Amino acid sequence: KQRLAILLSGRGSNMVALVNAVQGGVLNGLAEVAVVFSNKPDAPGLETAAALGCPTASLSSQGRKRDEFDAEVVDLLNQYAPDYLVLAGYMRILSPTFIRAFAGRILNIHPADTHQHQGLHAYEWAFENQLPETKITVHVVDEGLDTGPILAQAPVDLRGANTLHEVERRGLAVEHFIYADTLARLLRSELKVEN
Ligand code: GAR
Repeated sequence: KQRLAILLSGRGSNMVALVNAVQGGVLNGLAEVAVVFSNKPDAPGLETAAALGCPTASLSSQGRKRDEFDAEVVDLLNQYAPDYLVLAGYMRILSPTFIRAFAGRILNIHPADTHQHQGLHAYEWAFENQLPETKITVHVVDEGLDTGPILAQAPVDLRGANTLHEVERRGLAVEHFIYADTLARLLRSELKVEN
């Protein structure tokens, strides 16, 4: 089984979908959750992870210099010997040192087409521009902001979505499916990660 470190900063709905997939879905028998880590000790997702039976860890990034903080996180995560780092709403830009420590083994889910929109507020962007469709992207993290090799994309139909809440609701349903599905295909060597 491949060991996953799931990183989050907030609610953790993608983490829940991944843990469910490990415990009784497409990732069952393929992966195990080594740790759920947060840079915010009070993130709701951490408590949810513990309730699901996952090991949890946190280090507060507040007021910390990026390089120093990331070096500590690398050390902490290495104690759990992860094969893959799975970013699930981890709202921090990773330093080059961090990315090199796990090169090609960090995955992210981005709630837009990474060619069209990078960074924060992707659902707001889709809603404000009244897009008829947006995309969810699962990609390998490289040293740019949302620029790494794409592993999978799936469309979200936004026609008739009149509120931001509705845009998010439809998008998250796709996120929760595609992240575990893509990871399962990666772990079965059905996808290639360019390095
Ligand atoms: C998700 O929509 C995820 O795609 C997004 O944050 C949300 C986290 O929700 N990530 C980014 O915008 C990364 N740039 P969750 O905590 O419920 O999984």
